[in-house]
Amino acid sequence: MISKKTIDEIFAAVKIEEVVADFVSLKKQGQSYVGICPFHDDRNPSMHVTPRLGIYKCFVCDAKGNAVKFLMEHEKISYPEALEYLAKKYSIPIEYDHQETSEEKELRSERESLYLVNEFAEKFFMDQLRNTEEGQLMGMTYFKERGFKDSTIDKFHLGYCPSGWDAFTKEALKQGYKEDFLIKLGLTRKAANGKLFDFYRGRVIFPIHNVLGKVIGFGGRVLKKDEKTAKYFNSPESEIYHKTETLYDIYLAKKEIRNKDNTILVEGYTDVISLFESGIENAVASSGTSLTEEQVKILSRQSKNITVLYDGDRAGIKASMRGIDMLLNQGLNVRVCLLPDGEDPDSFAKQHRDSEVAEYLERNTTDFLLFKARILSQDAGNDPTKRATMVMDVLKSIASVQDNITRAFYIKECAKLFDLPEETLNGELRRMVWKKINEQPKSNTPSTGGATQQVASPEEKTYVPQIDVQKNKQQKPALDMLYEAEKGVILLLLKYGLYEINVEVENPDGDGLVFMPKRIDQFVFDELYNDHIVLTNPLLSKIYDHYAEVAQILFDQDAIKRTFILSEDPEESKFAIENIEAEMPTYSKHWQERYDMVTISTMNSLMQLEQEVHNVILLLKLRIVEKQLEFLQNEMKKQDYTEEDTLNMMSRYTVLLKCRTEISSKLNMAVSK
Ligand code: CTP
Ligand code: MN
Repeated sequence: MISKKTIDEIFAAVKIEEVVADFVSLKKQGQSYVGICPFHDDRNPSMHVTPRLGIYKCFVCDAKGNAVKFLMEHEKISYPEALEYLAKKYSIPIEYDHQETSEEKELRSERESLYLVNEFAEKFFMDQLRNTEEGQLMGMTYFKERGFKDSTIDKFHLGYCPSGWDAFTKEALKQGYKEDFLIKLGLTRKAANGKLFDFYRGRVIFPIHNVLGKVIGFGGRVLKKDEKTAKYFNSPESEIYHKTETLYDIYLAKKEIRNKDNTILVEGYTDVISLFESGIENAVASSGTSLTEEQVKILSRQSKNITVLYDGDRAGIKASMRGIDMLLNQGLNVRVCLLPDGEDPDSFAKQHRDSEVAEYLERNTTDFLLFKARILSQDAGNDPTKRATMVMDVLKSIASVQDNITRAFYIKECAKLFDLPEETLNGELRRMVWKKINEQPKSNTPSTGGATQQVASPEEKTYVPQIDVQKNKQQKPALDMLYEAEKGVILLLLKYGLYEINVEVENPDGDGLVFMPKRIDQFVFDELYNDHIVLTNPLLSKIYDHYAEVAQILFDQDAIKRTFILSEDPEESKFAIENIEAEMPTYSKHWQERYDMVTISTMNSLMQLEQEVHNVILLLKLRIVEKQLEFLQNEMKKQDYTEEDTLNMMSRYTVLLKCRTEISSKLNMAVSK
């Protein structure tokens, strides 16, 4: 057991923001930090890290805790493992309460034992490479021929496994490591005659580390070209090694990935290492397989930008392009860089000076979608069928892009490239986007309130009102109405967020509904979350997130107002001064003039405040429904939909109309238009 003294030292040294920043890229916001929450499918930064309190908290999925908890949840490790990680990070020597007995050793979980075996193996191979004659002669010579520097060999913990039958296995058994584990990890194999032998014998060793720097597997390369055996042996899947969740060099590269805000993706070990020697330290390898969703998740936690580095030969390009739509779907920005014919990153880096490599990357990195469009367009030639398929293929990628303006840009570029009118491409794209929306399992129609509403599952996509491909001038007034409604929500939080109202909830002890007190801010958060509503205005959305952060620390509404009025962010403080300060101490008049219906008039009665809260939320929902109706109205006028699509739109339109009537009757107001 780790001693109490060590634990105290660790807790004294730990800075929560530094620990979280190893996995999530954080932005400073006032006294705190915000980032994309790694514990749910987050698009806006909902994770708040508060150094003063030493905690993180996600305002959407409610993940929260201190640095140790963060590591345990994020890395799926045990409490002692998290402490060890922190001790290593802050260079604190670990003291144990007493020496472990062999019995206790056995009791350790299998995972921990497997890590220990791998750790031993890594050390053994490193030692063999450096300190034995065979290691020097065979392994070191090989690495030198490849041009690897000593410092690089050390940095990547490269090693060598002797060519005899079982040198490694023998030593491991002698040191008390179990045969069972050696075999599970693929380090040792059993021959038909029952003899144990070293799987990697006579190979140079590339250890593979996880994000925390623990050895989880190995790659072993033959020294000579030998037809009879595979060039690389890699660790089999085990309890600690999952190929689809592993990126080679993520441990060393992640710091630079965050610095550069970009990951370079290559194929294998040698590509990563050679680029590293050329001064490019943000490369990782997916090791053979095409990128998996788990790998993408790991990458997107470090940076949203990825540059895929392709070999100069064309065959591989098209195959790997398929995986890239997935990157776009996850909201990543993908760029590609094609190396000269016949070169891979390894050979290219070796043959060029550092500055040339960097310059080549800089000059030849292009947007993925345009790259794909160009390649497909060349391949399709003048064959009309092929060209039609190609256009659809590219449009499918464009439909995966999350941002409207970027999509419009792609359409423009592709229209030029394919020599087709923009309108045609837009028509097809709209059809696709529409199909995608229809395919979503549940409609995004906001609920009309009430305690019995169904709570949607958090996996569902967040609803963002702007589904239109092109922004249309006529929609401007509706957009403003939406802005006013969103502003209403923010002002409600800033002025009354900490107040309590009575809300109807299902009776926890039985049937029916009961009234329970609930804080207004919590009520608002829940309402918006349940309907997947995010604020579309960037400033309001920023204030919303910032509010969520300060509301857990401040317990006085005036302190909240002050926080925003005095905010370091000039935009925020301007908003607060114009909208809160100016109206204090009497709120009523201006409000009524400026907003079409909501009156947060003098709140002398609790009932009134309650009504206002409901109205503010209903109004926002109403504006969203109106926005959707308007979008559909415009779309249905267009001629380029199939009958089926049109019917679908009409039925959705009807649902939305009903929804609007329901909300407006609750609001007790006449809907204009
Ligand atoms: N690779 C692998 N398993 C194989 C072949 C390749 O895992 N059987 C991966 C390795 O990560 C390797 C990368 O693919 O680094 C590139 O392959 P290749 O160029 O064939 O390996 P090198 O060791 O660079 O060989 P060479 O010196 O012939 O280029
Ligand atoms: Mn190679």
